[in-house]
Amino acid sequence: MGKSYPKVSQEYEKAVEKCKRKLRGFIAEKHCAPLILRLAWHSAGTYDVDTKTGGPFGTIKHPAELSHDANNGLDIAVRLLEPIKEQFPLLTYADLSGKTLFSLAGIVAVEVTGGPEIPFHPGRPDKDEPPPEGRLPDATKGTDHLREVFGHMGLGDKEIVALSGGHTLGRCRKERSGFEGPWTSNPLIFDNSYFKELLRGEKEDLIRLPSDKALLEDPALRPLVEKYAADEDAFFADYAEAHLKLSELG
Ligand code: HEM
Repeated sequence: MGKSYPKVSQEYEKAVEKCKRKLRGFIAEKHCAPLILRLAWHSAGTYDVDTKTGGPFGTIKHPAELSHDANNGLDIAVRLLEPIKEQFPLLTYADLSGKTLFSLAGIVAVEVTGGPEIPFHPGRPDKDEPPPEGRLPDATKGTDHLREVFGHMGLGDKEIVALSGGHTLGRCRKERSGFEGPWTSNPLIFDNSYFKELLRGEKEDLIRLPSDKALLEDPALRPLVEKYAADEDAFFADYAEAHLKLSELG
């Protein structure tokens, strides 16, 4: 990839592998893959390329960041991961794990629900400074807004559409976001059904956020929706690349 990654000790690498195995069992048992993926995304998606602030450095564990409107409900995800963190003293928050644990958990959430494998490179320190509120996308807005928000992360059209496919997992909850319902009829399976449903049109029991529908109306984004709906392998390949980029912002 032409990128150089920090060197970590063998012991650290071993702990990461073991933690990954624990996370597989844990996430499968608790059926919490969607919430964990949302945590990993909200942890990373605050990155700003201009100021080099925010991003996947574990700051989302701080109450100040968890209390941002967009993060409603994610305190539950941080709490869920607490016992995992405690099993891996080498990966404590003060050391390397805010970033490590949340990123690793997001990758495992995709993997255990049948999604693509995403590489993981450990070894970046936690930061202490939570980003300001308002960097994550607003679901009531359109593609201008999506391009602006993802642009601040250094991500473009392909990443917007591929990563929106994360909504193949999970659901909206009225008490958290004001929206209600899942995007697909199999919200614990990572596949390309988000794109298929999007093209199929409104269905009474499935949700489509204004920001999801906006992908259909944009001449540059719609072809990607169509491509991913027709070709799951293409979606998985682009998703894995985009998720890796997201998880390594900054
Ligand atoms: C494109 C802009 C995006 C917007 C406007 C958006 C908005 C939302 C909203 C409003 C919810 C419902 C939260 C709730 O009620 O609990 C949600 C859930 C979710 N989002 Fe997104 N999202 C976006 C991108 C992404 C990305 C890039 C990912 C991951 C790659 C993602 C993964 C998820 C998951 C997995 C859930 C379900 C959580 C659960 O079931 O608890 N979203 N999103």
